[in-house]
Amino acid sequence: MRNEQGIAIVDRDEDGVDRAFRQDVLKGLRQRQKAIPARWLYDDAGSQLFEDITEVAEYYPTRAETEVLTARGEEFAELIGAGRAVVEFGSGSSVKTPLLLSAIAPAAYVPLDIAGDFLRESAAALGEKLPGLPIYPVEADFMRETPLPDAVEAMPKLGFFPGSTIGNMVPRTAVDLLRSMRATLRADEATAPLLLIGMDLVKDRAVLEAAYDDADGVTAQFNLNLARRINRELNGDIPLDALRHEARWNDEFARIEMHLEAQRDLAFSICGERFAMAKGETIHTENSHKFTRRSSATLLLAGGWTPIARWTDAKKRFSVILAEATEQREAP
Ligand code: AVJ
Repeated sequence: MRNEQGIAIVDRDEDGVDRAFRQDVLKGLRQRQKAIPARWLYDDAGSQLFEDITEVAEYYPTRAETEVLTARGEEFAELIGAGRAVVEFGSGSSVKTPLLLSAIAPAAYVPLDIAGDFLRESAAALGEKLPGLPIYPVEADFMRETPLPDAVEAMPKLGFFPGSTIGNMVPRTAVDLLRSMRATLRADEATAPLLLIGMDLVKDRAVLEAAYDDADGVTAQFNLNLARRINRELNGDIPLDALRHEARWNDEFARIEMHLEAQRDLAFSICGERFAMAKGETIHTENSHKFTRRSSATLLLAGGWTPIARWTDAKKRFSVILAEATEQREAP
């Protein structure tokens, strides 16, 4: 739900239950292949566990992308130029943002995130690192076209979407997002907006599966935290010890899937509704699509963005792509 400014707010019932969470979980668990949207993995505990994942040895994407952002500052500056308003979609607490901002002399920084508290905290932390840079946090759902603050309206824009978060979406949702970013960044303006986006690459299956099933079990905890959250917030009694984290490469769709697999036949209830799982049955909790040079270009083009430069880390594990909003044209 959103308020008059179009800002998303959590809609809770009289018992304080997040209605959207309940709806997604109940609907998702009634399906033949049980599935819950990945966004619900990221409560406070889940966000902290993801931060922990970025530090485990097997999880390479964060380090690989940071390597690119650290090494390529001069090229970013040359291709992007000074004076842009940088709009970050889903502002993380990341170390990545200052790397970009300090390389390109932006006119303003607009972190856009649905989690307001987190947004203001990370904006404040960034302000201390980069004094003198105007920062305009916007609390909004980046999946939707969002009006930007008046102060940045006249500035040329650079969208920033690191982390291969685009990979969490199935292609049609990813295309919707790319198109709404295009609208948010006002592709109709004189200076075409640019987008700097991180996209993780297809690689050896064992490397990918290890990155999503680390030996210390941090990713397993991240996945199981969803069931823990359901039990706590939705009055559930899922037996956590009967679920096992699984990371599975789906070659057809070029993605890592996270599942929670029942280790025995089990039954539980959530908000009074009964569910059963046979041994071996799973709840699908996340997709993380991986790309090739061509598949990333196709996805960006489908979303209205033309790739103009591309970098990878030294081991070619992760790509960072600079794209320009494609001009509308009739033919060919
Ligand atoms: C934050 C969505 C990019 O898909 O690699 C990490 C999330 N899930 N380990 C990813 C995640 C399991 C991560 N993203």
